[in-house]
Amino acid sequence: MTKIAPSILSADFAQLKKEIMEVDRAGADYIHVDVMDGHFVPNITIGPVVVKAIRPITTLPLDVHLMIEEPDHYIEAFAEAGADIITVHVETCPHLHRTIHAIKEKGVKAGVVINPATPKELLYPILPDVDLVLFMTVNPGFGGQKFITNVIEKIKQVDEWRRAFAPHVLFEVDGGINEKTAKQCIDAGVDILVAGSAIFNQTDRKQAIETIRKAAE
Ligand code: DX5
Ligand code: ZN
Repeated sequence: MTKIAPSILSADFAQLKKEIMEVDRAGADYIHVDVMDGHFVPNITIGPVVVKAIRPITTLPLDVHLMIEEPDHYIEAFAEAGADIITVHVETCPHLHRTIHAIKEKGVKAGVVINPATPKELLYPILPDVDLVLFMTVNPGFGGQKFITNVIEKIKQVDEWRRAFAPHVLFEVDGGINEKTAKQCIDAGVDILVAGSAIFNQTDRKQAIETIRKAAE
């Protein structure tokens, strides 16, 4: 079954506990946490203190997406705050192999994220070492943006490498995921769908999650 990771970026931050409990009860598989530094992306959001605060609210894995420069400095803080998965952008990591292994050494699953315009070849050397690849289907920074369709071709091509030499790797997509875009992602080989506005902008979160899951079938 398709896994759904609601992105709390589109949640009501004044009621974060309630929002997380609601999507947990509604059948979410992960909680996606968007960390932005105002440098790598033009927005500022969540830090380790917030991850620590939400950790006791849910037993779902916290999928922490680091959109920050020099992520190496913050891996320990996010791991100690309770992250289950930490993903770093290839665009921010000159020593990607070192960064991925620093995450794993903390006992946290490690993923690599790739922006829509970044060539897939950057994933090739690191693919066997990661637990997850997160394909951005928007330019990161904000919720509610339009899905960039040509990323689908990139996912299909990386899926061929996955089949050949890294079958353990999970594929995740993030940005503009809704009932219209979900299926093409799943058909391309995606395992986990991140969705922010398509879930949190709906009053019935259970129905929103079910709608995306159903559309992906
Ligand atoms: C974008 C973030 C996403 C965002 C997705 O920079 O990484 O996780 O919350 O929001 P939607 O699903 O509304 O595109
Ligand atoms: Zn994200």
